Amino acid sequence: MKHLLKLLDWTPEEIADTLDLADKLKAEKKAGIKHHILEGKTLGMIFQKSSTRTRVSFEVGMHDLGGKPLFLSSKDLQIGRGEPVQDTARVLSRFLDGIMIRTFEQQEVEDLAKYGSIPIINGLTDFCHPCQVLADLQTIREYKGKDIKGLKLCYIGDGNNMANSLIVGCIKMGMKVAIACPKGYEPDETVVAWAKENGELLITEDIIEACKGSDVLYTDVWASMGQEGEAEERKKIFKDYQINDAAVEASNKGVMVLHCLPAHRGEEITEEVLEAHAAEIFDEAENRLHAQKAVLVKCFTE
Ligand code: CP
Ligand code: NVA
Repeated sequence: MKHLLKLLDWTPEEIADTLDLADKLKAEKKAGIKHHILEGKTLGMIFQKSSTRTRVSFEVGMHDLGGKPLFLSSKDLQIGRGEPVQDTARVLSRFLDGIMIRTFEQQEVEDLAKYGSIPIINGLTDFCHPCQVLADLQTIREYKGKDIKGLKLCYIGDGNNMANSLIVGCIKMGMKVAIACPKGYEPDETVVAWAKENGELLITEDIIEACKGSDVLYTDVWASMGQEGEAEERKKIFKDYQINDAAVEASNKGVMVLHCLPAHRGEEITEEVLEAHAAEIFDEAENRLHAQKAVLVKCFTE
């Protein structure tokens, strides 16, 4: 059975196939071609954190493919009152054909897959955000050409779930990665160790050094969901870790700028840079739909 728990579990070929399918589904949607690939299938979507893009794109994606999405807020589920994930997994496996979950602990997603008997898709944990990075890679291919091997992505900011998934996704696609982050806010050490064995990864506090030779600049919020209480403190720690004119100028000519969104203008990205690169940032947001439809087809039918 195919799950998407983290990109580390997928081969480069599986990722490339998914991106090709995402391109095909995008073109077919634009051409008005309807699908019934997931007719009769139901996806439960468990949200333990807020969401705009992930929720709406999974919901629309299931409709587009002829299936049914079911929004399940943890506020209403017994899981939110402490029912063990082992039991939730086994019960929901009797009703549904697949589960998308957004939660805190990566272990919870792994446990759903372990105890359940249906495909599990990770819609963001504190450790990673694989669906976002598939949309990011689709967007990079659209702007830079399908062969993205050798391109360099520079991520500026917190070494968080986005940084972890970008490192893995980009390196699996043959890209180079640089992370500019303050000391103590580096990406997960297992991801860093994997990256150093499997590709080129630079981690530095020096933003300009990280930007040099970059084809794609990427950033994310300084305080992720669950870190709201530390937001003011983090503003001080991250204040220089911003995509601004200096970062764009230090990068290759024609550099793309991406942001998973939601964005905080004036914090991790300036208003000017965000608006100058709105075309690719909102194409990236749209591609959440197409990339996830490809993930749904792969997980439900393989
Ligand atoms: N980028 C992203 O996952 O957005 P949402 O939190 O709105 O789903
Ligand atoms: N790092 C952010 C990503 C949001 C899509 C968070 O976890 O809140």
